[in-house]
Amino acid sequence: MPLISTDVELAVTRLRAGGLVAMPTETVYGLAADARDADAVARIFAVKGRPSDHPLIVHLGEPDQLDRWATDVPDAARVLAATCWPGPLTMLLRRHPGVHDVVTGGRPTVGVRVPSHPVAADLLGRFGSGLAAPSANRFGRVSPTSAMHVVEDIGHLLDPDRDLVLDGGSSVVGVESTIVDLTIDPPQVLRSGAITEDDLTRILDAPVDEGRGPSRTSGMLTSHYAPECAVHAVEDREAAERLAGRLRTSGSKVAVLDRADDPVGAARALYADLRDADRAGVDALVVVLPPAVGIGLAVRDRVTKAAASRGSPSRRG
Ligand code: TXA
Ligand code: MG
Repeated sequence: MPLISTDVELAVTRLRAGGLVAMPTETVYGLAADARDADAVARIFAVKGRPSDHPLIVHLGEPDQLDRWATDVPDAARVLAATCWPGPLTMLLRRHPGVHDVVTGGRPTVGVRVPSHPVAADLLGRFGSGLAAPSANRFGRVSPTSAMHVVEDIGHLLDPDRDLVLDGGSSVVGVESTIVDLTIDPPQVLRSGAITEDDLTRILDAPVDEGRGPSRTSGMLTSHYAPECAVHAVEDREAAERLAGRLRTSGSKVAVLDRADDPVGAARALYADLRDADRAGVDALVVVLPPAVGIGLAVRDRVTKAAASRGSPSRRG
């Protein structure tokens, strides 16, 4: 059987039989399993090479399924669900007692989101229950934003008779969902994304904290999202050209990535850009950071973490 397909019904069949399905979402591709099937979820960790204490997000087809996975849902979460779902927002809530430890990493909380990608929505709608899914890349590496990226990263680890890569084209947002912890007051943003802390503050008409202090999500490790090449983050084009010049004199193959005047496009293309740099055999990629507003914040976060990764592979997460 071919590993890549656009057949949503086949994907449902695979999930029901305990297989893994790489599914397109508006943010990045996820590697999904039936969240009620502990063995299937355990295979996600094996394929990703991910430590078992890193919890997975449960993806739902409808906001009204929330109470099957979470308890003590605060009003703020209801407001965010009604306003931001379907869309790139993950909420951390108190877990429902029925949620498997393998999904939550044994934590008292569960991450939930309703993706807006039409293929993900179709898949979740037909499946009718929650799908546990991390980004469909090897642990610590660049997230996939196309079916081809998934095949390149983990295709050899999937079983074509059991698993499936569901092709839904390129992810339009391009960076992972915003994660907000609603088990504390005020809520705290643990990972930046297309929905910003300012957006959340405005929607809730109440304070929202930016993530700081010891991080509770692996996406908050200082090193993450790492391509093979060295990544350098700079604030403007001139600084990029100066640094690129210096690096070239030492014999490195250097490229400059500058989408700073188009933060939305920068987010959408970021992970493909990082992969392209590796494919081109670049030693060092100098990235011009977009301004620190809107989705530019998420791009800055990911590029800064990619830059921090070099020399500390053991901390990649
Ligand atoms: O956009 C996204 O969120 C994508 C798509 C596929 O939905 N998913 C994604 O999953 O980025 P992942 O596993 O690569 O990143 C989710 C992050 C991890 O850092 C994980 O540790 C954290 O969310 N997380 C999930 N559940 C959590 C929980 N209950 N408590 C703390 N952190 C949690
Ligand atoms: Mg990830």
